[in-house]
Amino acid sequence: MSAIESVLHERRVFAPSAQAVADATVSGMDAYKALCAEAERDYEGFWARLARETLAWHKPFTKVLDESKAPFYTWFEDGELNASYNSLDRHVEAGNGERVALVFEADDGTVTNVTYRDLLARVSRFANALKQRGVKKGDRVVIYMPMSIEGIVAMQACARIGATHSVVFGGFSSKSLNERMVDVGAVALVTADEQMRGGKALPLKNIADEALAMGGCDAVHSVIVYRRTGGKVAWTEGRDHWMHELSQAQSETCAPEPVGAEHPLFILYTSGSTGKPKGVQHSTGGYLLWAAQTLKWTFDWKPTDVFWCTADIGWITGHSYIAYGPLTVGATQVVFEGVPTYPNAGRFWQMIEKHKVTLFYTAPTAIRSLIKASEADAKVHPKSYDLSSLRILGTVGEPINPEAWIWYYENVGGKRCPIVDTWWQTETGGHMITPLPGATPLVPGSCTLPLPGIMAAIVDETGQDVPNGQGGILVVKRPWPAMIRNVWGQPERYQSGYFPAELGGTLYLAGDGSVRDKDSGYFTIMGRIDDVLNVSGHRLGTMEIESALVANPLVAEAAVVGRPDDTTGEAVVAFVVLKATRPQGDEAVKLANDLRAWVGKEIGPIAKPKDIRFGENLPKTRSGKIMRRLLRSLAKGEAITQDVSTLENPAILDQLGESL
Ligand code: WTA
Repeated sequence: MSAIESVLHERRVFAPSAQAVADATVSGMDAYKALCAEAERDYEGFWARLARETLAWHKPFTKVLDESKAPFYTWFEDGELNASYNSLDRHVEAGNGERVALVFEADDGTVTNVTYRDLLARVSRFANALKQRGVKKGDRVVIYMPMSIEGIVAMQACARIGATHSVVFGGFSSKSLNERMVDVGAVALVTADEQMRGGKALPLKNIADEALAMGGCDAVHSVIVYRRTGGKVAWTEGRDHWMHELSQAQSETCAPEPVGAEHPLFILYTSGSTGKPKGVQHSTGGYLLWAAQTLKWTFDWKPTDVFWCTADIGWITGHSYIAYGPLTVGATQVVFEGVPTYPNAGRFWQMIEKHKVTLFYTAPTAIRSLIKASEADAKVHPKSYDLSSLRILGTVGEPINPEAWIWYYENVGGKRCPIVDTWWQTETGGHMITPLPGATPLVPGSCTLPLPGIMAAIVDETGQDVPNGQGGILVVKRPWPAMIRNVWGQPERYQSGYFPAELGGTLYLAGDGSVRDKDSGYFTIMGRIDDVLNVSGHRLGTMEIESALVANPLVAEAAVVGRPDDTTGEAVVAFVVLKATRPQGDEAVKLANDLRAWVGKEIGPIAKPKDIRFGENLPKTRSGKIMRRLLRSLAKGEAITQDVSTLENPAILDQLGESL
């Protein structure tokens, strides 16, 4: 609660400079309010105007929003377009083929520029290669790749031929990759021999081979491998192909396949409150519109800008603000293979200086860890670099505490650059609640106000609006074009999870708690209200980690909770009961390490518990329900002051309070 309280008591307000207002596309609060009023007045007309202005349609739409099958909404349904055409051909046809699309900086600092013309040729070649391998419109292709030009090429090539991609973050384990390939029904997998991060080569193809061998992947007829390092890999003749060999043999023209606006552009798995991740299905038309529109509004993008989003293509931020949004508007963007701390913690600042980045978008966790590093070593402090090219800064993925906000504002932005604290989700496709840099006065720690056309509100457990100043459940009252269309293969889960009957069945439930300021109406996000943790901006389901732990033959029971963490936002704490007696001393330390490694194998290193506590049992009520509230207090090291009279086994609390 303390972080929330400090935001609520935040009184500092940073109004945009006269220059920022004058330069901006949405110039001043009146312009923002006019757009909101336009959406209120004629909701469909507003979205139709944006969709016509922002995208090139192969066949124009005549329908805008169809609510007849709510909550399975459709947008622009009879329109046809192609996302890759919108991202590439359009700019080349407009005479911008020589504009640099990607400034790729490898882990070792090597820079490769790719123009829009080059990128179109590379995407077309690979699209032809996919077709040659028998990939067809509507097929699902899983992409398990490092941050690379090739990763973006693979995504765009799928879009070009109407195949639906599903990118799996390169840090996920073979088991996680297998589950996703099976669930999505993949016919092909695009991967790399290895990935390079922080000077180390990490195997991807080996993990992919393991995942394929786990079964359920018989439909995967092709594994296409980008050769990144040249490291040794196993090879299955007939199934495995080098990306460069397949592409070399192809023509560099490939006609983009027009698809209906509702055609699934991609499926991206994310964690929810059950043990199994869900495949968030996005559309082509509505999604692409918002990825591009938000870049123009939130980042006030101009053709002269150099945009850099530090996210990975394995997450939604990398989809909307690397693979699609920047390309759809025709931006020049930096793409980075490596990590912010290699070769030292000045890497981000050095790259901003080198590439003259104007718009910089990163996560609060990265900022917090770089604050620490720069306190320890002045050489890596942002003040040691020329960051004068920067115009606008952004954050995403988790709440930013006011202290980190102020540091970012002063030291990175030189007190000159507005910070856009963008609240959104995998499911929303693009920004939802965020300041506009040339309009919104900023309050550190608040994501401020919804974008025009986004009807965000805060309600109580029955779906009734709560007054400003009172916390509640964050919802969106009307469908918007970029919203999730379905949970892949699980329409009931989509309906009950996102449009719960308790709230009336028509409100989109975001899963976050929020409060609006009494006077300004500004939103502050208070974190998840479900069993989802946010560790370094990554969503992790507590149930997923629990299932991974109990899958270990030594474990009888496990409960996982989050604990506030200065750097990663939240940290994973696991309470474990073994089948054998409770371990102590060195044995406990060793077992905890084994279990951490186990979770790394089951899900991926990001899910490893920071802290593991062993007990003979978990704190349960007489009816057998685990009292997570108590576990959360124990995880924080708090004394238990709550009433424990309903607890079956109060003595267990002492055991579970002991850290190793
Ligand atoms: C959290 C990432 C506070 C929130 C784009 C949300 C935030 C979840 C912010 C979605 C923000 C995202 N302030 N919290 N600006 N942005 N979140 O799906 O809890 O990986 O529900 O999408 O991150 O995470 P996801």
